[in-house]
Parts: sequence; structure tokens; C-alpha cells
Amino acid sequence: MSKNTVVVGCQWGDEGKGKIVDLLAAQADVIARFQGGANAGHTIHVDNIKYVLHLIPSGIIQPGKVCLIGNGVVLDPINFKEELDVLTSQGIDYSGRLFVSPASNLVLPYHKLIDAVEEENRGTGSIGTTKRGIGPAYVDKVARHGIRVADLFAPERLRKRLDYQRVIKSRYLEGSTDERADLDRTYQMLLEMAEILRPMVVDVSLYLHRAHRQKKAILYEGAQGCLLDVDLGTYPFATSSNTTTGGALTGLGIGPKMIDEVVGVVKAYTTRVGAGPFPTELVDDSGEEIRRLGDEYGATTGRPRRCGWLDLVALRHAVRINGVDSIAITKLDVLDNQAEIKVCTHYELDGETIDQVPLDLARLVHVKPVYKALPGWQADTTGVTAFEDLPPKAKEYLNYIAGDLEVAIRLVSTGAKREETIMV
Ligand code: GDP
Ligand code: IMO
Ligand code: MG
Repeated sequence: MSKNTVVVGCQWGDEGKGKIVDLLAAQADVIARFQGGANAGHTIHVDNIKYVLHLIPSGIIQPGKVCLIGNGVVLDPINFKEELDVLTSQGIDYSGRLFVSPASNLVLPYHKLIDAVEEENRGTGSIGTTKRGIGPAYVDKVARHGIRVADLFAPERLRKRLDYQRVIKSRYLEGSTDERADLDRTYQMLLEMAEILRPMVVDVSLYLHRAHRQKKAILYEGAQGCLLDVDLGTYPFATSSNTTTGGALTGLGIGPKMIDEVVGVVKAYTTRVGAGPFPTELVDDSGEEIRRLGDEYGATTGRPRRCGWLDLVALRHAVRINGVDSIAITKLDVLDNQAEIKVCTHYELDGETIDQVPLDLARLVHVKPVYKALPGWQADTTGVTAFEDLPPKAKEYLNYIAGDLEVAIRLVSTGAKREETIMV
């Protein structure tokens, strides 16, 4: 394994990043989350226990590994505390190995209220957000009136900054009977949370630089996926952070030379939760079948995920934007019983056949996918752990994808459990 590896999602999230990060974390010393917040839902299955991480890096399940939450993450203290409690109840000891950047912006109850109101206001154009307050928290960060972890330890400053919210958010907060609009209550909650967070605050950038100098292996964990990136995804049907490799640099305060390899996680088909263009979506029974076989329901919201075939055009975009060196292909087993598997190789748009996404990604709603049909393997691949043990047609499918994308296959996942994996 390369020493310092970025793991990013190459589709619309839920590619199986949690499982991949957990696996790669075994060979790492430090795991750092660089963006997003509790909108993420990263599932890991070990020894018949299911862990779902939202804010805390997926490396936490591996004993003794140091986990960092970077400045690019928006941290919801209430969700954070809940997640810590769940980890404790599941027997995970995080003490002394979980750290948070003082520059992380907080997601507060009023952000969730605003997220819900804004979704309502968008009407038929709603994004289908996770309602975790992510967008409004990043808006505050960029507008420079966000509240950061460091503010928790300066109560007067915290009070002032909260009082200012009353002014700038009056149209949401004034006269509201929703308890999430109650800033005094939020202030009290934050004073309590400050004590939980205090021992966890470190200079994440400096920590990583020192770890790097000591030749430790660092794993940079992305959330969401390339097509949800706020700049390079299917805007406005996107999340509010940079989910791509560049986000690791700004979200942790590191330079590019601290990265040796970028692993893109690619689900063997495509899913999307929430609204927005999805060229290869299957709106018939076959989409339903993939949803059932893949158990495609959101790990954060429980919403059914939209399902469709693999989209190589979109993946070419993801590989380029992230600088993907190698891919981890997940959920191969879900395609086991398909007689034929389709792969979108091109789009048709305005009478032309194109092999790259259109300049304006909003035009993805107008593209017609052009498919290549590959024969299915119709054999059980669940739990296969060696590439040579895969059915020949499954190998063909994987090699076809890697060949088109000009990347190496680093890992193939053949089941949700940690050991159901082929390390190539
Ligand atoms: P993430 O957000 O990218 O971490 O992915 P999620 O956890 O939201 O969704 C992936 C789902 O697929 C989870 O329920 C995983 O347990 C499951 N999963 C991961 N890899 C595999 C696999 O290879 N096969 C199957 N059947 N399930 C998998
Ligand atoms: P992981 O890390 C899948 C989607 C939401 C919505 C859009 C904006 O588990 O892959 P937001 O709440 O971020 O403002 O919602 O982004 N979304 C995800 N979809 N996986 C995720 O995370 C997601 N995080 C956000 O469904 O369409
Ligand atoms: Mg997920």
C-alpha cells in the first residue's frame, strides 16, 4: 500500500467508502476526514456488528488508530456526541485517539431548521438534502459568520457570535416556536459540548505534518462523491463541500506532496439519493431489483436510493477531477444474477455522441445514455477473496471498467463484511 492514500467516492455517494476506509485503515496510522458532516453515512460490518459512522472517521473501528476531523468538516456537536455514545455502546474505545480541528465550523440546530425551510421553499426544485443543516452551515462559513470549534472555548466571543445570528437570521428565527430557533438553548448546549470537545482539539495540519515526517501512513477519508461536489458535481443538486481530492488539501491544511495515491471508490452500478440528473437511472422493475439486491436504502436518512447502470462517462469525469490512480470496485456480488449487464459508454446530446460529460452538467438531464451490453456471470461471487477465483465474465467486467478508465484495480468488494474483499 502507498503510504498516504486519499479515498474518494466517484459517483453520487454511498459507493462503500466506509468499508474501504476501514480495510485500508488496518495498514494506516492516521485516518483524517476532510469535508462534509453528518450528512454522510458510512457503513462497516465487522464480526456481525454493523457500525454506521457519520462524522467520525471510519478508521475508528480499527483499534488504536488515530482519527482526525479536519477544518473542512462541518461538525454538529449534538450528532457528534450521539455518535460517540453509540461507539461506546458498541465497545469502541476512542479515548486519546480522536481529534478535531479548532477551525471546523459547527452545524447548529438553527442550520437544520433553515435547511428544512429552504428545501420547502425550493418546492419542486428541492435538492432532497439530508436535512442535516450542511448547506446553511457552509453558507455561514463562507460568509464569515460561522461559529467554529475554537469559539467554544471563548464563551464571551461565542455569545456575541450567537447573538449576531439573531440579527442575520431574523427571517428564520424571529417569532419561531421551533426549539431549534432558541439561541439561549443552543448557547447552553454548546457550553456543555465544549467540555467534551476540549481534550480533542489539536492543530490537525501540524499533527499530519509531524506524522508524515515520522513516516507514518495517513489515510485521507472523503465523504459523499465526486458528482455531489459543490464545484464539479451536478450543481445545484450537490452537497456544499468539495468532495474531491482537492478538498483533502484545503480541508486538512496539507500540501499535495503528502498524497501518494488516490483510490476512487466505484460501485459496480450507480445509485443516487435525492434529486438531480441521473442518466443511467432504471425507473422500471430492474431498478427495483437492484435496490432490493443491493439493499439500497440511505444509511443516514433511510430513503430508497435510485438505482441504475454503471456510467463510464461520469466516471471518466471523476477519475480526471480526483486524479484517481486506482479504483476499489464495490458490490460486485449485487450483479451476480444479471443475465446481461449494461455499461454506459457515451451520451447522446443534441444529435451528437459524446464521451465526456457536457460542459454544463445541468444538461445531464437531457443526455441519452449509449450502452454496451456485457454478459453477466450468473454465479455467486459473495465472499470471494482472490481475483482468480472470480467467474471469467466477472473478471471481464472489472477489467473492462479499469481499461476504459485507465486505472488499476486496487480492491474488489464482494460483500458487506470486512473479509469479503479481494485485495489486488
Ligand atoms: P459509503 O457512504 O460510501 O460508506 O457507503 P454506505 O455505507 O452508505 O453504503 C454502502 C452499503 O453497501 C452499506 O450498507 C455497506 O454495508 C454495503 N456494502 C459495501 N460493500 C459491499 C459489497 O461489496 N457487497 C454488498 N452486498 N454490500 C456492500
Ligand atoms: P456518503 O458519505 C449519498 C446528497 C443528498 C442530497 C445532496 C445534498 O454516505 O456517501 P446535503 O444534506 O449534503 O445538503 O444534501 O447530497 N448526499 C448524499 N448522498 N451519500 C452521501 O454521503 C450524501 N451526503 C449528501 O441526498 O441529494
Ligand atoms: Mg453513505
